[in-house]
Amino acid sequence: MKHNKLKPFPANFFWGGSTSAYQIEGAWNEDGKGPSVIDMAKYPEGTADFKVASDHYHHYKEDIALLAEMGFKAYRFSIAWTRIYPNGSGEVNQKGIDFYNNLINEIVSHGIEPIVTMYHFDLPFALQQKGGWSNRETIDAFEIYAQTLFENFGDRVNYWLTINEQNMMILHGDAIGTVDPNLENPKKELYQQNHHMLVAQAKAMNLCHQLLPNAKIGPAPNIVSIYPASSKPEDIMAAHNYSAIRNWLYLDMAVFGRYNTTAWNYFEEKGYVPTILDGDMEVLASANPDFIAFNYYTSQTVAASEGDGSDICHTGDQHITVGEPGVYKGANNPNLKKNEFGWEIDPVGFRNTLREIYDRYNLPLIITENGLGAFDKLEEGEIVNDPYRIEFLRKHIEQMQLAITDGVEVFGFCPWSAIDLISTHQGCSKRYGFIFVNRDEFDLKDLRRIRKQSFYWYKELIATNGEKLN
Ligand code: BG6
Repeated sequence: MKHNKLKPFPANFFWGGSTSAYQIEGAWNEDGKGPSVIDMAKYPEGTADFKVASDHYHHYKEDIALLAEMGFKAYRFSIAWTRIYPNGSGEVNQKGIDFYNNLINEIVSHGIEPIVTMYHFDLPFALQQKGGWSNRETIDAFEIYAQTLFENFGDRVNYWLTINEQNMMILHGDAIGTVDPNLENPKKELYQQNHHMLVAQAKAMNLCHQLLPNAKIGPAPNIVSIYPASSKPEDIMAAHNYSAIRNWLYLDMAVFGRYNTTAWNYFEEKGYVPTILDGDMEVLASANPDFIAFNYYTSQTVAASEGDGSDICHTGDQHITVGEPGVYKGANNPNLKKNEFGWEIDPVGFRNTLREIYDRYNLPLIITENGLGAFDKLEEGEIVNDPYRIEFLRKHIEQMQLAITDGVEVFGFCPWSAIDLISTHQGCSKRYGFIFVNRDEFDLKDLRRIRKQSFYWYKELIATNGEKLN
């Protein structure tokens, strides 16, 4: 739809940025922190591990001051479960509580709204050793962890996100490094884990509402529009299948408290039906999110799959769709350019996605990730020019404003990432931040912070509440 006049961004719009604990903090075993599955995983050859990352643990004051200088209204970060409970459950680690108290105080003292992700891929390794999300005890551990967060930080944190990209952990656990490679029947087991995570999320949402009546909580999946590769009815059905399996399975449960029908039939067809215990569906139905947070990098295009699997390419990641015999297969979209890592770039798809989610659920939306990974270069004179990132973000923000004009209720935009950090599976040379962190894959250098060109651009954009887009 063409609009003659654009609606402005709402007053008090949460312009901000995002990070996650394991990708930015470092200090992987300091002050009593226990190991997470990420700390114990193997890394792709030639890429940095997460031990030091951007060393935010020791630079947090300087980092938050830089975010404040950019004018951030909100900052979305995650808490490392293993700093609070080194073994996932049991005894609380006071030093972990202290760190996040200090961090949150620092954020709040600059007038920035903290938005906390409770769990961003880094499950405590001690829980993983007991079966991780396959073991129902992890649901209890998550509930206790959630309670600890609400009790300790709920006086200052009003916005909570339960689980980051649960759908990507299930669909692409291999790329993200969160899947247990020793699983016997990975997919069936993954959907069992998925069920347990959904129950854990519902319990956390209920607990939040009980303990913090003024706080708001929501899920944070990765949701994107799925396009059919052609107007062939079979391709349209494949897109419908993949939307259900990738998107609506997660949000229908979070919002409506029920399994999506197409996804459920897919479980039955493939033998992935999870075991559901008495009471689970009641818990799931009782929980309600206050908003939906979602991550968007690109749309996805799929085609019908003939059924024997021979037509499916098997290399993918969060944003390169693989496929499943007889259900859908990943396809290229000839209308879209790709970034250096093979991810398609689709700003209009962002507007499509915002409209689809809002039409379906009618809840306020916040974007908790969107951004461009690139090989930024530090030039002489402390200069990092990243016009490609500015262009990427500008185009997406334009489409977000169009979606707002379409009537979609959006209350924040927190691109990935506030500061350079380590990518999930492509090292630290794949940079996303507004702030450059001076290190290489294996040479930590001085880790000094340098404002990129995009830093100044975003600062001006925020100062004008999005009016100065161009
Ligand atoms: C999302 C994750 O999948 O995408 C982030 O929530 C991640 O943790 C981001 O960093 C970008 O992906 P990548 O693989 O380039 O780090």
